[in-house]
Amino acid sequence: AEALRVGIAGLGTVGASVARVLRDKADVLTRQCGRDIVVTAVSARDPKRDRGIDLSAAKWFDDPVKMAEKADIDVFVELIGGDEGPARLSVKAALEAGRHVVTANKALLAKHGVQLAEIAEKKGVLLNYEAAVAGGIPVIKTMREAMAGNAVTRVFGILNGTCNYVLTRMEAEGISFDACLKDAQRLGYAEADPTFDIEGHDTAHKLSILTSLAFGTKIAANDIYMEGISNITQADIRAAGDLGYRIKLLGVAQRTDSGIEQRVHPTMVPTASVIAQVHGVINAVAIETDILGELLLSGPGAGGNATASAVIGDIADIAKSRPGFQHAPVFGWPAKELKPYKRAR
Ligand code: NDP
Ligand code: HSE
Repeated sequence: AEALRVGIAGLGTVGASVARVLRDKADVLTRQCGRDIVVTAVSARDPKRDRGIDLSAAKWFDDPVKMAEKADIDVFVELIGGDEGPARLSVKAALEAGRHVVTANKALLAKHGVQLAEIAEKKGVLLNYEAAVAGGIPVIKTMREAMAGNAVTRVFGILNGTCNYVLTRMEAEGISFDACLKDAQRLGYAEADPTFDIEGHDTAHKLSILTSLAFGTKIAANDIYMEGISNITQADIRAAGDLGYRIKLLGVAQRTDSGIEQRVHPTMVPTASVIAQVHGVINAVAIETDILGELLLSGPGAGGNATASAVIGDIADIAKSRPGFQHAPVFGWPAKELKPYKRAR
C-alpha cells in the first residue's frame, strides 16, 4: 500500500515528540498499519530552532494554513494550540481540502468542534482528537467506540496534569504553588498560558468534550461552572488532610433532574478513595453507565511522549482505514442541543 503522508503543524513539546516517535517506531508502525507513515511536511514559527530531530526530508512551511491547503499530505496534524488564529484556520483549511485531521487542541474543539465536525462529516474525512482529553489515556476511543448501548449517568475525573502535579507536590513536599507551577512548565505539561490550567479552563474544555460524547449533546463549554486552584494554599491542603481528605481539581458532568450538570472545581476527596491515589501528572477518568457500571481509566495526562502516543494512535487509525470505511460520529450523537442546566440554590 502507498505510504500515508503526514504534515505536522507545531513542533513544540508534543509536535517534536510525535516526529521523534514516528521515526523511532517506523518499523513497528509499518507492520501494524500495513503501510509506511512518512512525515512529508512540517510547520512552526522558527525554522532555525533546534528540535532535537532531523526534519530536513520534510518540506518546511512558514504558514500552517498553506501547508494544510497545498502540501503533499493525507493527514494534517495540528499541534500549535489556541482556539483561534493559525490552529483554527489551518484545521478548517485541511478539512475543506479533504484531508484527515488529528489534533490535541481541546481549546479549539471546545469552541469550534461542532463546526469542524460538520465540515469533516460533509467531506467524509476523519477528525481524530484522542490526545485532546487526558493526554495518553484512550478515553475518546473508549467512549466513541467501546461503549455502544451504554447510557452514561456520570463522567468525572482529574483532567489536568499540571494542576494535579502542583497539588501533589504542594502536599507531599510542602513546596510553594509558584515553584510547582514553574516545574510543570519546564516539564512541558502546562499550556502556553498556564492560566488556562490553574484557573480550570483546560479542565472545562476537556469536560465539555466528554459531556458531548457521554450524553449525545453538542459541545457547550460556556455552560460549565468553573473554579481553579490558584487560591489553594498549604493551609487548605493541611486542613483537608487533618480531616482525612485530599484536594483534587475535578471536572464532573452528570445527568440530573434539572438537566446535564457540568462543573469544574477543587474538591475534597476522601484520602482512602481511588481518585485520591492519583498523583502527579497522572489523570483519571471515571465513567458510570447503566450496563457497564463504573469504569476507571488512569494514566499520564500530559507531556511529550504520553501525548504523542495518543496522537500516533489516531494517525495509525487513519493509516489502517480503507476507502468507504465507516467511522463513529465525531462528537455526541445525535448531537442535540444541551439544555441550560439550572443550579439548585
Ligand atoms: P508548544 O508551545 O510546546 O508548541 C507549539 C508549537 O506551535 C511550536 O512549535 C510553535 O513554533 C508552533 N507555532 C506557534 N504559532 C505558530 C504559527 N503561527 N505557525 C506555525 N507554528 C506555530 O505547545 P505543546 O506542544 O505543549 O502543545 C501543542 C498542543 O497540544 C496544544 O493545543 C496543547 O493544548 C495540546 N496538548 C499539549 C499537551 C502537553 O502535555 N504539552 C498534552 C495534550 C495536549 P516554534 O517552536 O517555532 O515557536
Ligand atoms: N496542560 C495540559 C495539562 C496538557 O496539564 O493537562 C494536557 O492536556
